[in-house]
Amino acid sequence: MNNLHFFENRIKTIKAHFQHEFTGYQNRGQIAKEANIHEASTYGPLGIAHAKEFQQTIDKLKPNIPSTIHVIDIGCGYALARAVLKDSGVNYKSYNGFDPNESMLWFAKQIDGEGKFFSSLDQLPVFRDHVLVIINHVFGQNSVSQADMCSWVSNLKRSCNAGFTLMSIEIDGFLPAARNFTLFRRFIKSMNLCVQNEVEYRIQGEHKNYKIIRQWNLRSAA
Ligand SMILES: C[S@@+](CC[C@H](N)C(=O)[O-])C[C@H]1O[C@@H](n2cnc3c(N)ncnc32)[C@H](O)[C@@H]1O
Repeated sequence: MNNLHFFENRIKTIKAHFQHEFTGYQNRGQIAKEANIHEASTYGPLGIAHAKEFQQTIDKLKPNIPSTIHVIDIGCGYALARAVLKDSGVNYKSYNGFDPNESMLWFAKQIDGEGKFFSSLDQLPVFRDHVLVIINHVFGQNSVSQADMCSWVSNLKRSCNAGFTLMSIEIDGFLPAARNFTLFRRFIKSMNLCVQNEVEYRIQGEHKNYKIIRQWNLRSAA
């Protein structure tokens, strides 16, 4: 059994134990900041699908990152990326999951105790080694504002002293995600972060949509 299978079983056990099965919340991947634990519990199957898409990208990502790194996962949800990274042999020194929704963080901690979790990016420590920044299906969230993305970029600049690799996965052609990514790119530029290596490609997603993968190396130009 690999780590992702183990996490999948943990999700089922937690749902059964806390009797989360019966909720009318329709989860189409949009998680409101105030969604409660019963609502957040409906994310399980979609979370596994998103984790499998991340798994599809790891082989291309691995040659671009040092063998030991720190991980920041923006909009981490259940933090399933921990399992995918381990299954792919990516050794990380620390996993730091950020999500404004406390119920998603509750799930992440119930599934596995490993990692540090933050509901505000201001709490991120400063890293002297290279960082892998994962943003998996977050740019398309209704609750992501310009101010949020400005805070992501300024905190990444503050926290990642030795630069970072960004790995982003979004639904290809989904306008809100594309618009937000364009704004994010503007913040990167205006805050003097320089993109050294830009890779962009598409994969067949776990559902009917194609997914757009963006993989960048960034460091502070100043
Ligand atoms: C579709 S889920 C993706 C979760 C996780 N990245 C994954 O791949 O399983 C979207 C996540 O973004 C989070 N989110 C919503 N608004 C956010 C914001 N402004 N900043 C960061 N995360 C946000 C939600 O709470 C939710 O956990």
